[in-house]
Formats: sequence, structure tokens, C-alpha cells
Amino acid sequence: MPLAGSRLALIGGGNMAEALVRGLLRAAVLPPDSIVVTDTRPERLEHFQKHYRVAAVAHNPTAAATADVLILAVKPQILEKVVQEIAPALKPTALIISIAAGVPIASIATHLEPSARVCRTMPNICALVAHAATAIAAGPTATPEDMKQVRAIFEAVGIVVEVEESLMDAATGLSGSGPAYVFLIVEALADAGVRVGLPRYQAQQLAAATVLGSAHLLIDTGLHPGVLKDQVTSPGGTAIAGLHTLEAGGLRTTLINAVVSATERSRQLGEQHTKRQ
Ligand SMILES: NC(=O)c1ccc[n+]([C@@H]2O[C@H](COP(=O)([O-])OP(=O)(O)OC[C@H]3O[C@@H](n4cnc5c(N)ncnc54)[C@H](OP(=O)(O)O)[C@@H]3O)[C@@H](O)[C@H]2O)c1
Repeated sequence: MPLAGSRLALIGGGNMAEALVRGLLRAAVLPPDSIVVTDTRPERLEHFQKHYRVAAVAHNPTAAATADVLILAVKPQILEKVVQEIAPALKPTALIISIAAGVPIASIATHLEPSARVCRTMPNICALVAHAATAIAAGPTATPEDMKQVRAIFEAVGIVVEVEESLMDAATGLSGSGPAYVFLIVEALADAGVRVGLPRYQAQQLAAATVLGSAHLLIDTGLHPGVLKDQVTSPGGTAIAGLHTLEAGGLRTTLINAVVSATERSRQLGEQHTKRQ
């Protein structure tokens, strides 16, 4: 177990921190008494203590001082202020993991000792139901053992793909922002169901379950999506009629353009962040 015996601190007890704590406890990656969470809001601290039996404190440096692994889970805008606050308290051996969108490893490392090991991740909102797709990237001083720990943490809430940090904007454009695309697609499919006569609730159930089942089939079989698409299109049948309309409407190009736009936006936000330093 890569994290056996480690103490984990999560700085910022919001949605993502809660998803991670829930996943780590459920998968027994860490016991509750190895985890501490911080937040500025007393009700969040109480929530973590009551529901997960983990330690929860308001003072970030107190939590940071005990951590072998520390996850920065505050909003990107305040991340560097928080790093400056905890830096003097950190153990020299602590592994630092950021989940903040758009903040480069170098920006975090500027406030830490040169030997500090920093990794960056991009999970998505599906961590809330333990089905996240998370991209992870190693900083220049991170070791293969560090990456095993990062992987173990995020595998508790879904699947993990390791990339170079330069591809984090691309991961943000695809999987970080991807749930929004899928929600829109499901909403549109539900509208379509209503258009052809299904009641709204049933239409949405059928649409969401179709996306879920198709994703399971792809992952479980490991088959190329084109192969599965060919398997469900019979000559002169219904699926090929629908696919013809999707191709005529430029669905592929639209989705590619969406990921390109979101990737570019992520890059711009990262550049703005670096300039503000
Ligand atoms: N949500 C996603 O889908 C998603 C996906 C990928 C990456 N991320 C990244 O994950 C990070 C957390 O996102 P989130 O959605 O979990 O945000 P969130 O729910 O707003 O969580 C952040 C928490 O930190 C608290 N906080 C504010 N200032 C603090 C301080 N100085 N010290 C300690 N805690 C403080 C916030 O309290 P207040 O509410 O009172 O400010 C809030 O409870 C962000 O950097 C985001 O970019 C999120």
C-alpha cells in the first residue's frame, strides 16, 4: 500500500476534499485517524468530524505540520496565499499535491524549499460519485514513489492517467470540463425523447442510463468506439439513420472544437495566473 502509515492533510474542506476523503475511507486507503482537513468555515469542520471521523482544524499550518502528504484543495485564486502560510510548517519530506485548476507547479514551488516535491492533478466533478477521470503530473523533483502515492489517492475516486504537466490544459479541456459536455448531451437527448413523445422524467432516465451503459461497455470490453458503433448499426436500421443526422450536424467537429476552446481557455487562465505573481 503506497500510503501505509502516511498522514494526509487536505487544505480546504470543500466538495473535492470531501469526495477524496470519502473515497479514501471507503477504499480503506487510509484510516480516519490518519487524515486531517482544514477549512475556514466551522460548519465544514464539524461536518468532516461528524460524518467521516477525521480530524478537522481551522489553522492550516497546524494541519500541514503533521502531514506526510498534503493536498491543496482550495480555490486557485487563494492557493498561493495558502502555500505561503503553510510553507514554514511543512515537514521537509512532505509530498505536496495540488488539485487547483490552472496553477502551474512552478508557481507553487516558488514558495517552497527547492527540494520540495510538488505534483499537480486535474480530477473532475465525478469524484463525488467515485467515478472521476483524473490526470496527474509529476513536478521536477517528484519521485516514482511519489507518483504511486498520488495515483493511489486518486484511484480511490476513479481512474487515473499520468501526463506531462504541459498536457494539463488539454486534460482540463477534455476530462476536467467534460462532465459539462455530457450533461448538455444528456439534457439534449432528454429533450429529444420528449419531442418524440416520452414523458420528461423517463426520457432523462433513459438518456442518462444510455450514456452510463455505453461508457461501461467501452471500458469493460476495451473495444474501439468505432467497433462498438458498427456493432449497433444494422443495414438500413434506426441507429445508422440517427448517426447520419449527427454527422450531417457536425457532431464530431463540434466536440473537437469544444475541447480545443476549453484547452485554450485553460491555457489563458494559467498565463494570467503566472503574470499576476
Ligand atoms: N469542483 C470541481 O469539479 C473541480 C474539478 C477539478 C479541480 N478542482 C479544483 O479543486 C479545488 C477545490 O474545488 P472545490 O470545488 O472543492 O471548491 P470548494 O468547494 O469551494 O472548496 C474550497 C474550500 O476551501 C475553503 N477555504 C477558503 N479559504 C480557505 C483557507 N484560507 N484555508 C482553508 N480553507 C479555505 C472554502 O471555504 P469558503 O467556501 O468559505 O471560501 C471551501 O470550503 C479548486 O482549486 C478547483 O480548481 C475542482
